[in-house]
Amino acid sequence: MRKQIVAGNWKMNCDLAETEALLNALKSQIIPESTQVMVAPPYTNLQHAFQSVKDHPITVAAQNMHQAENGAYTGEVSAAMLKSVGIKHVILGHSERRAYFGENNALLAEKVATALRHDMTVIFCFGEELTDRQHGREFDVVKDQLKHGIFQISENDWKQVILAYEPVWAIGTGETASPEQAQEMHAFIRRTIAEHFSEATAKEVSILYGGSVKPGNATEIFGKEDVDGGLIGGASLDAESFMAIVNAFK
Ligand code: PGA
Repeated sequence: MRKQIVAGNWKMNCDLAETEALLNALKSQIIPESTQVMVAPPYTNLQHAFQSVKDHPITVAAQNMHQAENGAYTGEVSAAMLKSVGIKHVILGHSERRAYFGENNALLAEKVATALRHDMTVIFCFGEELTDRQHGREFDVVKDQLKHGIFQISENDWKQVILAYEPVWAIGTGETASPEQAQEMHAFIRRTIAEHFSEATAKEVSILYGGSVKPGNATEIFGKEDVDGGLIGGASLDAESFMAIVNAFK
């Protein structure tokens, strides 16, 4: 059975004191056993966050990592460094990384390979831009991102992968894909995985939806057959909103 997951992508928000406050607020809540809850604070707070939630059912993920093992890459952080402070989950391919930091499918394929080599779990993000959808290219774009960004992995590696479909036009805009649009794309993603790998793998992989998920729309989106949860940006910075989303599964 695939997992239900709600992951909070804090992006470049929350200093140490704010991280502590948000984590304390989350820790005071009951986390349903059926749902895996993750938070992804900025690099500087990962070690603190990991220690803080050690005895709680909250997983801490990184928002990015470099593809190389180590070396002269000023400002970068490696998989081994993340692992050394307890982090085993990493978000890769977020649309902001693609748009502002030039991350393309080929680079992401390298990052995915490095993360898997270090036995990390990858939350792999992808999704079309508004113009793609306006031109009816959303399925082609998504297929291309999957084929060139992550389909190089082995069948067995899928156990370490969570997918996050995030249409770029819905991120931070207040505009969400309708539950039907999300379901249509998630079903397409599963079919594409079945074609390239197997039905069994397609059935087992958790596919999250991301893009302006809020307490008011989460239940409807999560209620769709092929939507296994969400990657939450803005609403994950408020404990009450985030927990309402965590509790939105029917
Ligand atoms: P949002 O961000 O929920 O603020 O739209 C989602 C994301 O970027 O993962």
